[in-house]
Amino acid sequence: MKVALIYASTTGNTEAMANAMNEALASAGAEVVFSTADSADAESVAASDVILLGSPAMGDEVLEDTMEEFYTGIEGALSGKKVGLFGSYDWGDGQWLRDWEDRARNAGANVSESLMVHLTPEADDLAKCQDWAKAFLA
Ligand SMILES: Cc1cc2nc3c(=O)[nH]c(=O)nc-3n(C[C@H](O)[C@H](O)[C@H](O)COP(=O)(O)O)c2cc1C
Repeated sequence: MKVALIYASTTGNTEAMANAMNEALASAGAEVVFSTADSADAESVAASDVILLGSPAMGDEVLEDTMEEFYTGIEGALSGKKVGLFGSYDWGDGQWLRDWEDRARNAGANVSESLMVHLTPEADDLAKCQDWAKAFLA
């Protein structure tokens, strides 16, 4: 199965989540398109069976800028796709992920429950990231 795993991260927290997911997916035998949002190839993402996207909560509960730009570019190609959203946050309550889920559903994607981690992921959070990503292969 081809999985696109694209993320943005300003201080490494969402990146740590993405790295754990990438390891889990690769060891489960998935073909992973793994990239930061600023260098992601929209065509290979759109050609993937599963699309996992990560961004921290930034601004006032919005996506990080490079993910916002990348996501806007692929939004029209998400219809019928299995999509999962994740990221790190601090003081909010996950509004940025709920808004992102709504956008993806409005684009026609089949959106699973998102995964958020408070600040730097601990070992148990990284294990959750691995399980969460592997569930998309079922
Ligand atoms: C400019 C800025 C804006 C932020 N806005 C929010 C926010 O709206 N809600 C929230 O919960 N956390 C917010 N945060 C906290 C980050 O989401 C948090 O530090 C996160 O762990 C960063 O993840 P990253 O290392 O993957 O970039 C903000 C942080 C910065 C620097």
